[in-house]
Amino acid sequence: MDKIGVLFVCLGNICRSPMAEGLFIHQAEQSGLLQRFHIDSAGTSGHHIGEKADSRMRRTAQSYGVNLPSRSRKLEVADFEAFDYIIAMDKYNLQDIQTLNTGEGKAQVLMMRKFDPRPGNYSVPDPYYGGDAGFEEVYQILNRSNENLLSYLTKEHSL
Ligand code: 4NP
Repeated sequence: MDKIGVLFVCLGNICRSPMAEGLFIHQAEQSGLLQRFHIDSAGTSGHHIGEKADSRMRRTAQSYGVNLPSRSRKLEVADFEAFDYIIAMDKYNLQDIQTLNTGEGKAQVLMMRKFDPRPGNYSVPDPYYGGDAGFEEVYQILNRSNENLLSYLTKEHSL
């Protein structure tokens, strides 16, 4: 059976999208559904290619028992065919993602906080230039958004 491809995208692919990726893997694993998914993350900027997730994001993740093993890579045109869902962290990401989107791939491009029961302004705030509280906030937003994303996909694909 084909795996459901979910790609989380932010700007640098070292804070928000690796956190979203790690959390989704963690939650899917706990629900016994990990085998049904192909999960990855990418950035629109390409400024941190090959780097591990930011140490502050990894530390926050680790405090909740979540691992962030991925390395930064840049979003590419082929991703629109390789993944079923491309999930943007904020409206700037969405614009940058759509600039690259030829519309020929199968991917649906969605906003992460569309799945947040408390969506605020629909952006996952960029924590890079701020303090520890920003990383905690990103974790909390992504934790509750991903729970709903996983239930949405479970229903949508009859998992
Ligand atoms: P991310 O955060 O998009 O959540 O990975 C950022 C990481 C790096 C930079 C900006 C945002 N930067 O300007 O280097």
